[in-house]
Amino acid sequence: MSNSVKTFLKQVGKDYQSQSVNPPVVRASTVIFKTIQDIKKTQSKYKKNPLSKNFDYGRKGTSTTFVLQDLLRKIENAYQVYLTPTGFGAVFLGIISIVRPGDEIIITDSVYSPTRFLTEEYLKKFNISAIFYDPKNLNDLKRKITNKTKLIFVENPGSNTFEFQDLNKILSFAKKRNIFTAIDNTWGTPYLIKPLDLGFDMSIVSATKYYSGHSDVMGGSLAINKKLFKKVELSQKAIGSRLGPDDAYLIIRGLRTLDIRLDKHQQNALKIAKFFSKQRKVKEVFYPFKKNNNQYKMWKKYYSGASGLMGIKVLSKNKNSVIKFLNKLKLFSYGYSWGGFESLALYQDKLALGNRSYTKLNNNEHIIRLHIGLEDPNDLIADIKQAIKSIR
Ligand SMILES: Cc1ncc(COP(=O)(O)O)c(C=O)c1O
Repeated sequence: MSNSVKTFLKQVGKDYQSQSVNPPVVRASTVIFKTIQDIKKTQSKYKKNPLSKNFDYGRKGTSTTFVLQDLLRKIENAYQVYLTPTGFGAVFLGIISIVRPGDEIIITDSVYSPTRFLTEEYLKKFNISAIFYDPKNLNDLKRKITNKTKLIFVENPGSNTFEFQDLNKILSFAKKRNIFTAIDNTWGTPYLIKPLDLGFDMSIVSATKYYSGHSDVMGGSLAINKKLFKKVELSQKAIGSRLGPDDAYLIIRGLRTLDIRLDKHQQNALKIAKFFSKQRKVKEVFYPFKKNNNQYKMWKKYYSGASGLMGIKVLSKNKNSVIKFLNKLKLFSYGYSWGGFESLALYQDKLALGNRSYTKLNNNEHIIRLHIGLEDPNDLIADIKQAIKSIR
């Protein structure tokens, strides 16, 4: 890509054939050909070069999804990108392409909880084991590698507790033992960090979040290097789950402003993080803004910026008063999926955090996840100020 990603995202997908600045939405289950020779030509082109567009059946994609696939391939510096109907679908496709009965996967302890369910509970039925490592102690990861380890699955930063890890260290452990590596990069997106350039084999992003940016569509992307191409291509063919053209169109539309939105999410989040760091009831702010601590260093080493998702650890013996704080917020809705233009809050106690081994929470500690949206940050701070008085 010769232009910067900012320029690329504004220019990509222009369609001079339809004379439309945006790619047309091509909806097709049946893909038609004039002659049998024409369909054979498409198919043999794909056989010779599996990266060529195999437009002979709707499930394999249409010109709209191919535009999104090409766009993401460029910004991820990937060999290929697979589009899935949800972000979690991309997690599943990535993992299932690699592991077989008898294999072990080593995973960040603070991984997105459905990923924990998939690996810890569901894949157990297929004799695949999940082992979780402490994201704050990578020697723990190193110790857990065995001859059965097939995949190291990293989420960076971790969900809700936002641990930033030394990614090169993880990659060096994996390379020495020929272990595949995957990263859930939904928080950073390839605008802030390019995991495949670092040496990861797979980079997963929930397109539902910052790619779409408007909280109205779901999708996922699995970007891979050449080494994994045959494996993932085969799994995708076997599973048959793909993103539809209307959703692809909305994600392309969102991606036009990914850079602008993320820059502003960061600006707003930084102000809110500083505000929280001065509040008596807030013990910790999970956001990379305080220089010279290890978490900040790890973030700075790998990321060109930060997004809008953060957490705070609140101290209170009175859980109801913490809930009251959340209920009193007027500009922060209560909701799970994040990455849109709007601010959100979420209460996380021990139960909500799930089965973790390394997140220690005392009874008087409460984690609140906040998505800092694109509103005026002064209004957000005023809203927090009027609500935070409730915490006793
Ligand atoms: C870190 C992370 N990965 C993956 C997902 C799954 O994405 P989706 O909701 O698109 O399935 C989420 C959703 O919240 C997430 O937070």
